[in-house]
Order: sequence, then C-alpha cells, then structure tokens
Amino acid sequence: MTVRAGRGGWTARFAARTERMRPSEIRTLLKRTAGSDVISLAGGLPSPATFDVGAFAAAAERALVRDGRRALQYGPTDGRPELRAWVAERTPGATPERVLITSGSQQGLALLAQVLIDPEAPVAVAAPTYMGALRAFDPYAPRWLPVATDADGMRPEALEAALAQRPAFLYVIPDFDNPTGSRMTLERREALLDAAARHDVLVIEDAPYRELRFEGEELPTLHELAPERVAHLGTLSKTLAPGLRLAWVAGPEALIEALQRAKQASDLHTSTFVQAVALEAVAEGALDRRLPELRVHYRARRDVLVDALAVEAGDRLAFEPPQGGMFLWARATDGTDTTRLLGAAVDAGVAFVPGAAFYPAGAPADRLRLSYSLPDDAGLREAARRLRTAFDAPAARP
Ligand SMILES: Cc1ncc(COP(=O)(O)O)c(C=O)c1O
Repeated sequence: MTVRAGRGGWTARFAARTERMRPSEIRTLLKRTAGSDVISLAGGLPSPATFDVGAFAAAAERALVRDGRRALQYGPTDGRPELRAWVAERTPGATPERVLITSGSQQGLALLAQVLIDPEAPVAVAAPTYMGALRAFDPYAPRWLPVATDADGMRPEALEAALAQRPAFLYVIPDFDNPTGSRMTLERREALLDAAARHDVLVIEDAPYRELRFEGEELPTLHELAPERVAHLGTLSKTLAPGLRLAWVAGPEALIEALQRAKQASDLHTSTFVQAVALEAVAEGALDRRLPELRVHYRARRDVLVDALAVEAGDRLAFEPPQGGMFLWARATDGTDTTRLLGAAVDAGVAFVPGAAFYPAGAPADRLRLSYSLPDDAGLREAARRLRTAFDAPAARP
C-alpha cells in the first residue's frame, strides 16, 4: 500500500504560529559558509581552543563512578539540587528554590515566552537585541516595543516610553550585549529598575557574557539589585562549553514555578548526565580556573580585530571597542547597506551578520556585527583585509 502525504502537503496543516517560526539568518549563513575557506566573523561560537576536554573526561568518569545510576536516571524538573545550590551561591539574590536548571538559556527564553506572552501583548526589547530572543518570543505573537539604545544601553527616554505601555516584560542584556557589545552603566541599571518599579514591569536579564569582562569594574546585576522584579538567565555556554546545553533561570518564586510546569511539558528535565558531569567539573574548580584565561583569550582576540580594522577599514567603520564578550558592533560611516555588503564579503571570503537581523522592526541598513571569538590572530587580520576588499567591490554599492 502506498502511504500518501496529506493533500496539498502537510504544511497546510501546520498551526498558524509556525508562520512566525522563521529560520535564523545566522544559522542559514553559517551553513552556507561551513567547510569553505570563508572566515566567519558571523557566529558567536566560543573558541573550541578554550574547551577543557580533559577536565570533562575526568568529570564524566567521576560522575559515573561516584553515582552513575543516578546520573543515568530521570531527575527532577527543576534540576539537580546540588547544581541549583551552586547556581544560587554564585547568583546574588537567588536561593536554590528560586533557580530552574534549563537546557541552554535559549530554553529559558522559550519557556519565559510561553509563560508570559499572550497574543498581541506588548513586549519591550532593546533595538537591536539578540536574534535568538526575538525568535523565541515571536511565535507567541507579541507586539514589539523596540527601545532605542546608545553606547551605554537602552536610552532612558525610550525606555520610559516603552514601560509606560505596561509590557508583559522588558528583555535586556546589560553585560557585553549581543549584538552591540555594550555594557549598561550602574546609573542606567538603577534608573531602569526605578522605571520598571514605577510601571510595575517584570525584567528579564540575559547574562551569558557577564563573566567575559576584559576591563572595568564588575557591576551589580539587575537581579542582585531587585530579585523580586528580575528573572536572571545564566549559562555555561560561553564559559565552559555550549554543547553541554546547561543554563539556569533565577527569579521570583511564582515565576520559577510556572516555568517549571512549562519545562515539564517540554522536556521533563535537563539531562541528568550532563548535570552530573557539569557539577563534577565546577566542583573541581573547572570554571573558576578557566575564567581568567578566558578573559585573556577573548581580550587578545578583540585587540587583534580592533587593530586590524583600524588598519584595513580606517574611517569606513565607526565602533566602540567592547569591554567584554564576543561582539563588535559597527556602523558603515558612508551608509553602505550591510546586507548588500555581505554578498560582496562572502565573495571576498569573509562573513559577518548584517545589523538589520537584530531589530524587531525599523532596522537601520548600515550596521554590522563582527564576532572575534573564533578565528586566530592571522584569521582576524585576513578577515579585516577581506572586509576592505568587500567595501571596495562594485557589488557592495547600489
Ligand atoms: C544573549 C544570548 N542569550 C542566550 C543565548 C543562548 O545561550 P545558550 O547556549 O545558553 O542557550 C545566546 C547565545 O548566543 C546569547 O547571545
């Protein structure tokens, strides 16, 4: 018997929300450039040179030898208690009961969207902001309230106007933002929380790059300043390894409980095996030992790219060197449309992400995000040279 697909194809049967599940432009682009000799400044992938493979091998062995049956059994939805206690210890303002272990911060964002966004509910986000957050929120059909930013993060007047509309929440990346690399000053953090309190708005603080600080003092997290108003997302992706898919949300208890119910329906719990391995690794000091090295590693990458751009791009690109994280955000000073430039860049052998991808609406055409996390010194210098070739190419012009 022949089994035939639904008449008109199955896509006609998909729920309406699938129309809002667009593929990530970054992933499509990475696929196109993978395996070629295009140097990618596009993805935010941590450098595999920083992965301590030996420490994970030892941690996995210890996890199995010590309590292998527990590491291989189902576990509680909110996560392994010892891991939640470890997170709470490192997250000022949190207690273990107010922590949910998630499969990557990306799952945290998806669960928050599921729990907090009704169709047409206003949602305030920085413009630009993390594309993965826009993708996680979009299927729930929010009404975007984009908040304009400057070098210090969200602009106070724009923030005030957005919060006055009482959004379902405000999403913000205060430390070494993706895509802008900027860090919110202490005054702005306090003013943001003051405005959020006046308008009674929940704040989602996404902090994957917080520990990758090259310069400047450590500033308090929003969660630390207002634990009852802020859900804080942390992750091991940018510090230990993204393949672990190990992250957490710390926040008000009622919210954590709701997220836990959503997570139960989604995947029951984050891999008990991965949690056991990660716990062994961090208990043995893998993270604290690595952080100083990581900061040196990524700071050196930033310096090479900043210097190479100064030599190759001259005054064609305007940018502030980031003080941490993995991203440099630039503006083409002659107004070049960076989506058009990307075609010429890939021809010249370098990839980046056009800035327009990071805006929920109303994107300027002349911004671009360059990640310095992956290539080595020679690769970053060559990438900058290729970028200059792309700028000079007729294909980059209208
Ligand atoms: C701002 C931001 N949030 C969340 C994530 C996702 O992190 P995870 O690997 O923990 O899912 C990323 C990854 O690039 C990110 O840049």
